[in-house]
Order: sequence, then structure tokens, then C-alpha cells
Amino acid sequence: MSNQRIVNKTLFLDSVNSGVVVVNSDLNVKFFNSWLEAHTDKKRDEVIGRPITEVFPEIKEKVLSRKVKNCLKLKSPTFYDAEVDGYLFQIPADKIIYSTFEYMQQNVTIAPYDVEKDLVSLMIYDQTQFLEMKRRCVDFNEELQRQVKIEVQKQKEQEDILLHQSRMASMGEMIGNIAHQWKQPLNGLSIYIQMIYEEQRNKQKISQEFIQEFYEKTMFQIKGMSQTVDDFKNFFKVNRQKKDFYLKRVIENSLRLVDSYYTKHKIEINIDYQVDEDLILKGFDNELIQVFVNILNNGKDALIEKKIDNPKMNIIVSETAEFTTVEFEDNAGGIPDDIMKDIFVPYFTTKDDQGTGIGLYMSQRIVNEHLKGTISVSNKNQGACFKIRLPKT
Ligand SMILES: Nc1ncnc2c1ncn2[C@@H]1O[C@H](COP(=O)(O)OP(=O)(O)O)[C@@H](O)[C@H]1O
Ligand SMILES: [Mg+2]
Repeated sequence: MSNQRIVNKTLFLDSVNSGVVVVNSDLNVKFFNSWLEAHTDKKRDEVIGRPITEVFPEIKEKVLSRKVKNCLKLKSPTFYDAEVDGYLFQIPADKIIYSTFEYMQQNVTIAPYDVEKDLVSLMIYDQTQFLEMKRRCVDFNEELQRQVKIEVQKQKEQEDILLHQSRMASMGEMIGNIAHQWKQPLNGLSIYIQMIYEEQRNKQKISQEFIQEFYEKTMFQIKGMSQTVDDFKNFFKVNRQKKDFYLKRVIENSLRLVDSYYTKHKIEINIDYQVDEDLILKGFDNELIQVFVNILNNGKDALIEKKIDNPKMNIIVSETAEFTTVEFEDNAGGIPDDIMKDIFVPYFTTKDDQGTGIGLYMSQRIVNEHLKGTISVSNKNQGACFKIRLPKT
């Protein structure tokens, strides 16, 4: 009777789109559906009646035997998982469709078929495409991660180059300042030396007073030059340690570094210090000096370029409960609306060969990232106004 049931079920089992084998507890094949005939080189007649492990020698007999017996004993299904086991028996995968698997990957369900007759069915589901897809997804993800890493690395190298360039650029601007700052005292020194030479040529003997005066005047010039070098040396020193510093000192030092150009072009500097003289900030004072010097140099450039009659730079220091604010306001006519959005972009400059376009970009980064503040710009009455807000700690 159960034989009859198997025959009746044949039609159904032959029409499913997966493999079905029925075996008994000795693993003898009782049924082999047409899906399997189509996907293996075995025919139903040559398989039925033989142990399945003889037909497919790659099957691990112990494992299958145990699973079949458990299934019958517990009257509940057990499984093979394609992701863990790969396959039950070898069905060569279609190489054209599946590029990476040699054999069809199979999920197998071992279910009780006829417990009285000790029969179980092995249902084989083709998982190759799914696993192939998954594999590709993983590959794709790995590739994506690799690409992202490369891009991040590139970005970082780019940043490093920019940082280096910006340091070189501000060094260039600074060296220009030193050279300029030294012109005056060098000139002075050469005049005094000229004088002492003339004096001894005319009088043969130089008076004590003359020597004293020569000494005092030349030492004064030399001290000034030495101070300039120290200022610049400090400026280039990289201090990685955050420390407390007087804001007033930073403003004064910044002004000293641009002093010669400001003096030469008679640019009037007004400082409106609306905060406590002893206001202390925390962070990298050199970097703040770099920011101030960038802005002061830009202001000077604009005032000279526009040939402003009574050039001015107003510095206003104020505070709220949360911020200390430093504003630099010139009277050079301001920044044209159409380039307002570009001035903080790296390499943007309107000064052709004279500019690098890195100053404001770098200033913004220093303020944002190292000092956790903001820098903004607007056009006020007669010129540009750069506003730096630094959080109070
Ligand atoms: N005070 C200012 N007045 C007018 N234009 C300014 C001022 N400050 C900056 N700019 C504009 O912003 C541009 C970018 O400045 P910056 O980043 O320092 O580069 P650079 O000074 O090398 O040109 C300048 O070329 C100039 O056009
Ligand atoms: Mg600049």
C-alpha cells in the first residue's frame, strides 16, 4: 500500500523544482525524481535499490546515516546548510552562470516520509545563485572598503601637502616681513659706520663721546634686529602643548611681525580693547598669531592695492558669556560679493603670482579645529571685517 502511495506521489515529486530522493534507514534509494535525473548523469532505474552512498561516493555516509536515523527516531526534519556544508552530493554547477563554485550549493531537508516503512525524503534546494550573490556582495564590499581606504589615504596625503604648503607660504610672507623689517636698522647701521669712518678720516682721532654715542646707537639697532629674529623664531616654533596665554600679548606679537609694512605704508592701527587687559586664553598661541598675521597681511595687501588715502586697521576685542571675539576691520573697500564665498577655499587668490590662496583656508582650519572657534567675514562700513570667535574655557 505504501508502495502505491509512492507511485501516486511520483507525479507530484517529479514536478517540483528541486531534487527529491527517498531512502530507507540503510540509505537504500527508493525514489529519485526527474529534477535529479536532469541535474545529474544518473537515471532513476540505475539508482533505485542501491545505497545512495554507492551512487554518490562523495557523500559522507556516517553523517547522512546519523541524520536519517535521527529524523526517523524523532519524527522531525533535520538539515544540511549550504553555507556550512556546501553540498550533499556533487552536481557540477553550470560554469557559465556560476563563476566561482565548482558544484551546486545545496540546502538539504531530511524529512520523515513514511515512518512505518522507515523512509525519509531528502529534498535538495539549489542555493548556488544565492550564495554566489552573497559572495559577490562580500567581494564588492571588500573592494568598496579598499577603495574608500585608498581615497581616505589620498585625501590625507593631499591634506598633508596643503599643510606643508601653507606653512611654506606663511614662511614666505614672514621672510618678506623680516627682510623689510631689517632694512631700516641695516640702513641705520651703515650710516653710523659711515659716520665713524668719516670722523676718523677728518680728525685722525675720535673722541670718547663719539665712540660712546656710536656704541649706544648701533647697539640699539642691533637689539631691534635681534628682537625681530626672536619674534620670527617663536612664530615658527611648533608648540604642540596647549597652554595659557594672554590674548593681548598675542595681538601685540602679531602686530610686531607686520610692523614694518604697516609703518612704511602709514597704516593706522586702532585697538579697542573692551575686555580685561589680563584676559587669558588656552590653546596654541603660535597658531593664533599665524591667523592674526594672515588677516593683518591681507588687510595690508588690500589697503596698498586700493591705494587708500588714510589706510586703517581697527582691532576690536570684546566678549560675551561664552565667547571672546576679535575683529579686524580695514577700510580697503571690502570683498566683492561674488568672491565672498571663495575666499576660504584653498588656493583661491586674487593676487596672481603674489598670492597663494592658502592663508585664509589655513586660518579657518586653525580656528575651527585647533581652537574650536569660528571665523567669519562681512563687509562693514568701509572695508572687510574678519571676526574670530573663541570659546571661553
Ligand atoms: N581684507 C581684505 N580685503 C579685501 N579682500 C580680501 C581681504 N582679505 C582677503 N581678501 C581676499 O581673499 C583672498 C584670499 O586670501 P588668502 O587666503 O589670504 O590668500 P592670498 O592672500 O594668498 O590671496 C585674497 O586673494 C583677497 O582677494
Ligand atoms: Mg593672504
